[in-house]
Amino acid sequence: MRRVALSQYLVEQARSGAAVTPELGLLIEVVARACRAISVTVGKGALADVLGGAGTENIQGEAQKKLDIISNEILIEANEWGGYLAAMVSEEMEKPHQIPNRYPRGKHLLLFDPLDGSSNIDVNIAVGTIFSVLRCPDGVGEPDERAFMQPGRCQVAAGFAIYGPSTLLVLTVGRGVAVFTLDKETGSFVLTTERVTIPEDTREFAINVSNMKWWEPPVKRYIDECLAGASGPRGKDFNMRWIASMVAEVYRILTRGGIFMYPRDARYTEGRLRLMYEANPMSFIVEQAGGAATNGRTRILDISPTALHQRVGVILGSKNEVDRVTGYFAR
Ligand code: AHG
Ligand code: MN
Ligand code: MN
Repeated sequence: MRRVALSQYLVEQARSGAAVTPELGLLIEVVARACRAISVTVGKGALADVLGGAGTENIQGEAQKKLDIISNEILIEANEWGGYLAAMVSEEMEKPHQIPNRYPRGKHLLLFDPLDGSSNIDVNIAVGTIFSVLRCPDGVGEPDERAFMQPGRCQVAAGFAIYGPSTLLVLTVGRGVAVFTLDKETGSFVLTTERVTIPEDTREFAINVSNMKWWEPPVKRYIDECLAGASGPRGKDFNMRWIASMVAEVYRILTRGGIFMYPRDARYTEGRLRLMYEANPMSFIVEQAGGAATNGRTRILDISPTALHQRVGVILGSKNEVDRVTGYFAR
């Protein structure tokens, strides 16, 4: 495979008709460089005293890890000066972060989960960064929460980094999904998969089964049928995975198919995952790779948001399996 770095990929995408303006291209490259910096910091672990809790809580009422805060600061500092952003939203900050007056403002809105799967960081399991890009509505100088209230189908780009055995960047600008591998010697993200396609069928499901007592009936029915295996209505055996890092589950599904489920339930009545910077970017990527993503009842990318940190049920992955689950909800 020819060696193409992220910059060249973005230029080639723009030439072949993708809506990658120079401003959006710069935004993506800066976010990628921030992810590289996060990868280096995450990789130092105990050597840099960055593990463990920060002793603080975020807007979600969740205990923050030191690396949640460090990753958030890396992304804020990297993206403030470039002149392509009107504001940023983070899982770790209650309100939108405004661009300081000393810098020019641009036409994009950046949303991110700076460290996804952070409950895994202290046990050395893959974590990542998820990001989503929207256009700032025309004429909005100081974007407040309302400027971000756009359904996921309005995203102009989305991606995630995964800090695992290798550091990967998964990216869509609306014309398929590409994967880049970080060359740690040169520091550049090199294109290693030009176009990802999720198999429409699978024998692998991912769900936190400890939540079974709270599930809605269609979810219980679907998982029971998977567990019944070859002698049950599905006529085939299934495998299960649950890593508790959405980035790792989604990357596995992009590479070999599968269904990831974190549905709303009697405990998480709105869902566990956040719409704007987890479900929307991951749904955009999954659909661009030929998969599907719903909350059981509605296509996630069609949900009109009402709050920055709102939660949503998530069922995404191999199209035929997601359609089956969504069909069970419709009965
Ligand atoms: P975050 O670390 O950003 O809060 O995200 C964690 C999310 C997601 O990555 C993962 O799939 C899910 O939480 C795991 O939830 P459980 O711990 O309830 O299994
Ligand atoms: Mn997350
Ligand atoms: Mn997070």
